[in-house]
Amino acid sequence: MQHIVCNGCGDSLGSQLTNIGSGADCFGILQCSCSEYPVVAGVPILCEDQLPFRSLSAARIVKLLKAGQNRLALLELVTPDWLTAPKARNFTDKLLPSTLSNKRSANHQRERIARWRNRFEELAGATGKNAIRRLVKHYFGSRPGGEYFTFRFCTPKHLASLSLASPLKLEQGAIVDICCGGGHITRYLTHRATDNPVYGIDADFFLLWLANSRIAPSGHYLCVDLERGLPLADGSIRHMLMSNALQFIHGKRLFGREVERVLEKDRGTLVVSSLRHSQYKAVTPNQAIPPQGYMQLVDLPKVMVCESPVVARYMQKMGPDLSVSDSNEALSRSPMISMVATYDQDVLKNHGRMDMWPHELGNLGINPLYDQDKTSGSLALNWPSQMFIEENEELVGYLPESLPPLPEDESQLSPYLEKAVLIDLPDNY
Ligand SMILES: C[S@@+](CC[C@H](N)C(=O)[O-])C[C@H]1O[C@@H](n2cnc3c(N)ncnc32)[C@H](O)[C@@H]1O
Repeated sequence: MQHIVCNGCGDSLGSQLTNIGSGADCFGILQCSCSEYPVVAGVPILCEDQLPFRSLSAARIVKLLKAGQNRLALLELVTPDWLTAPKARNFTDKLLPSTLSNKRSANHQRERIARWRNRFEELAGATGKNAIRRLVKHYFGSRPGGEYFTFRFCTPKHLASLSLASPLKLEQGAIVDICCGGGHITRYLTHRATDNPVYGIDADFFLLWLANSRIAPSGHYLCVDLERGLPLADGSIRHMLMSNALQFIHGKRLFGREVERVLEKDRGTLVVSSLRHSQYKAVTPNQAIPPQGYMQLVDLPKVMVCESPVVARYMQKMGPDLSVSDSNEALSRSPMISMVATYDQDVLKNHGRMDMWPHELGNLGINPLYDQDKTSGSLALNWPSQMFIEENEELVGYLPESLPPLPEDESQLSPYLEKAVLIDLPDNY
């Protein structure tokens, strides 16, 4: 973990981190010349004050850890803000004097949070089918992130990222999944990495905890606000991947400068996949800029391509064609685009047939978009919502409506693999 440095003073945090560990029961405090950073359930929180998008400070978590309250520190971090934010007063409250009604609603909120945390503890210890899906649902409630992170493994965005990562020499050099979310792509990267480290960076502690404890436990995770730079040593990272995220970052120029600083000179690669741009109106609000704006962020040889053909080629078991950029006109009409910037000359070319499907690497399970009939075992496609279909247009084309039961003979599984109906999934999904 020698790659990790403090963004404030530049001190290396790696050796302290190696002592604390990155396993789900590792708790501790990192110290550098300028700050103290908490490590909770193996995830360092490299924020000097408020956690990004949260009404919670790193100092509060340090205080809990110093008092030996490790479990409470974890519970405070995973409790979503939608639960802790002050609630509007209801009709009965409005009839009461304000001191009484404030007390009443504070009590209600405390009870709700306690109930939520009890259930979280139950779900965090649960195993078996749907255990991970229940955790995601508990955290997001009915918010759109729940659907997104439950079905992430089945989306064209996932296949596009797998395709673009497939030509990289992931067996060598340190790897970072920037804005890794729940670690869905990180999981593939950890399958391909051998002894080289894979880091996942994100602002959302719950998602990092999920990645570390359930989805890709051999990764190392950091809770970081990307708007404040990357806590990584100069020239230390060989492969950087970022899927479905740059359009949500305001400081894109800072991001570009940080990538140039952190990538290994002469051999590093940046892959930005599932990128929205401002010439296409997406369902999800974002801070996208025009394709040419993204192209100017990093000063490295690069290509930018429309993402649908990457997915279409993937379904033919073909790697991406990165020999040349698509035309500005094609990019501006494409709902999603991908950018690959690299010092490695082997990357920017037309990658032919893949030896195996990237989604085949790991632990095969049935794509969660399918319901399996309890008696016959046959599979039927079940869309979670209209919004999900709109966000994942390409899916409609390649997933069959129904399929016969899985054959016992493993040599007969190819039709299920070819349609991404069988995919690599974590245990307890
Ligand atoms: C749509 S999700 C994509 C997650 C993952 N890369 C994937 O493809 O599923 C966007 C991610 O960016 C993260 N994110 C947004 N703004 C961030 C910031 N300023 N710093 C770090 N992470 C951020 C969010 O927490 C979220 O996990």
